Parts: sequence; C-alpha cells; structure tokens
Amino acid sequence: MTHFKVNGIERSFDGDPEMPLLWYLRDILGLTGTKFGCGMALCGACTVLQNGKAIRSCTKQMDSVGGLDIVTIEGISEHGPHAVQTAWVEVNVPQCGYCQPGQIMQAVSLLSSKPKPTDADIDDVMAGNICRCGTYQRIRAAIKEAAKETA
Ligand code: FES
Ligand code: FES
Repeated sequence: MTHFKVNGIERSFDGDPEMPLLWYLRDILGLTGTKFGCGMALCGACTVLQNGKAIRSCTKQMDSVGGLDIVTIEGISEHGPHAVQTAWVEVNVPQCGYCQPGQIMQAVSLLSSKPKPTDADIDDVMAGNICRCGTYQRIRAAIKEAAKETA
C-alpha cells in the first residue's frame, strides 16, 4: 500500500504499481484539470507539483509516489484563484485552453523558486510546455504580471 497526499488530502493506493499518476488523478480521483497530451514527458499538459516542484504526471508511476505531496491545478489555492490564475485571466492567455493547466502549474513552480524571473528564466523553464495555439508571448506576460503579486 502506497501512502501520499493529493491537494492536502491523505490518499493510499494498492493497484497497478505501473499506473501513471496522471491516470490515477483523472480516472480514480476525478481531477480532470490535469490533461493528457503525449504520455511521454514531451508536452507538459500533465504537469503537477511534487513537493512544490513541477513534474510530468504521465511518466510518474504510482509505485514512486509514496510519501509525496502532489498538487494539481485544482489544489493550488485554498482561497480563491491563485495569483498566477488571476494573471492568466488579466492577460487573457488561453486560446483553446488545453495546455493551460500544465502551463499554469509550471509557472507556479517557477515563481516559487524564482519570484522575479527574467525572460531567459521564463523561456528556459517553460520550454517543455507546448502550446499548439502559440500563446507563448501571453504566457510570458502573465508570468511577469503574477510575479508582481507573488514576490
Ligand atoms: S502528457 Fe505528460 S508531458 Fe505530455
Ligand atoms: S491554448 Fe491551445 S494548446 Fe495552448
């Protein structure tokens, strides 16, 4: 039996040890904000936080989540929208929206380690999050906007 937390709630799992965390989050917990894109850690759609740091949940197996604190897009703020979500709305970032939960989780992770990121920091950290709609300029602007609030 594996014990861990998801969005602050204690969870346990004794199913298929090779099940991807993404499957568990979406199909068992019903947390469908985290998206499936490539299943190969190549697009960032499935990004969640592991002990505060962004990881790809599509390649994280359930036998490796013991003791971890996992946070999904549903759990990034206890009281109202997170500063990053507010900035996303202000800058009107999303187009189709599919990649955006992953983008936001990656941005939350970035700002927690670098509260005032440079353009190079943003480009470097966000490079693995693919947006088919090409919202990259607005993502960068929104991260800078959020940095004003989270610094
Ligand atoms: S679905 Fe996980 S990185 Fe693409
Ligand atoms: S907003 Fe459509 S894929 Fe990013």
